[in-house]
Amino acid sequence: MRIGILTAGGDCPGINATIRGVCKTAINYYGMEIYGIQSGFQGLIDDDIAPIDIEDMSGLLNLGGTILGTSRVKPFPQKGSNNNERAKQILKNIEKRKLDCIVCIGGNGTQKTAARLAELGINIVSIPKTIDNDIWGTDFSFGFDSAVGIATEAIDRLHSTASSHKRVMVVEVMGHHAGWLALYSGMASGGDIILIPELPYNIHNLGNVIIERLKKGKPYSIVVVAEGIQTDPERKKRAGEYIAEEIEYETGFETRETVLGYLQRGGAPSSFDRNLATLMGGHATELIANKKFGRMVALKGDTITSIPLSDTAGKLKLVSPQHNLIVEGKKMGICFG
Ligand code: F6P
Repeated sequence: MRIGILTAGGDCPGINATIRGVCKTAINYYGMEIYGIQSGFQGLIDDDIAPIDIEDMSGLLNLGGTILGTSRVKPFPQKGSNNNERAKQILKNIEKRKLDCIVCIGGNGTQKTAARLAELGINIVSIPKTIDNDIWGTDFSFGFDSAVGIATEAIDRLHSTASSHKRVMVVEVMGHHAGWLALYSGMASGGDIILIPELPYNIHNLGNVIIERLKKGKPYSIVVVAEGIQTDPERKKRAGEYIAEEIEYETGFETRETVLGYLQRGGAPSSFDRNLATLMGGHATELIANKKFGRMVALKGDTITSIPLSDTAGKLKLVSPQHNLIVEGKKMGICFG
C-alpha cells in the first residue's frame, strides 16, 4: 500500500514521534510505501509530496515541531462560497500519486476536514494531537501532557516572585475554548485561583479570596487563567491582562500578568507523550493494513482504539464541572471563580 501522511493545525510536542511511529511500523512491519505531504492540506492541494524513507526517521522521537511542516489551510469552501476547487485538486493529486490512504495528524479542525474528505470517498485514518486536549472521543491527545509540564514548571517559578514581592501573579495559559491546560497545570503548580471557560467567575469573589488570603498571612496569590475565559469584549484585552487589571482594581494589590503563549507548544515531548504518540502511530498503521478507514485513533482508559471520524467531527471535549480535580480542589479551598 502507498500511504500519504500530513500534519495540520498548530504544532505541538509529539508530532514527529507520531510520524516516526507510523512510518517505521508501516515500512518495517507492513512493507508499505510512505509519502510525506508538506504543510498540512496545502501540500495535498499543491501536490507538494515526496517519498519518506526509514533513514528519514532518525532523531525524531524527541524533536519538537513537525518535519512535514503545518498550516491551518482548509480545503473546503467557507459558508456562503461554492468554490470547491481545492477539494477537487486534492482528489486529483491523490489519484495522480496513487495514494491508498492519507494519515492526517491534527486537532479539531483537522478531524472535521478529515471527516469531509472521507465523505468524498478518500481513505483516511486520523490521529488526534493538541496541547488543548479538547478533541472529542479520546481521553488524551499527545502534546497535552508536555504542555502541562511546561506550564507547571513556569508557574512554579512565578511562585518565587509572588512570595518575594508579595504580589498577585496572573498567568495566562493556552487551551482555546477549553480549560484542560489551565486546570491540570494550575492544580499541579498549586494555583490559588484557577479560571477556566467552562466555569463562570465573579471578579468581586476573586478579590475577596485574595484579601482573605492576606488576612491568613498569605500576602501573595497565584491566579491561573485559561485564554478562553469570558472577558469584557469592549476592552479588547487578553484574558490574563484583563483579570490582572480587575484584581488590582478590586484589591489594590500589586498584580502582574505573564502570558506563556507558544512556549507551551515547543520543544521535546514528555515521555508520556512520546509513548502515546508511538502507540497511536502504530495503531493508525494497523487500521490501514486492515482497511479500516474513516476512523480516528483514540485513547480510552489505557487502551488505544479508534472511533468513526463522523462521531468526533465538529464536537469539542470540554471540562466537566464535576471533574475530580475541580471537586477535590474546591474541598482544599482552591477558588474556581
Ligand atoms: O490549538 C492549539 C493552540 O495553541 C491553542 O491553544 C491556541 O488558542 C491556538 O492554537 C493558537 O493558534 P495560532 O498558532 O494560530 O496562533
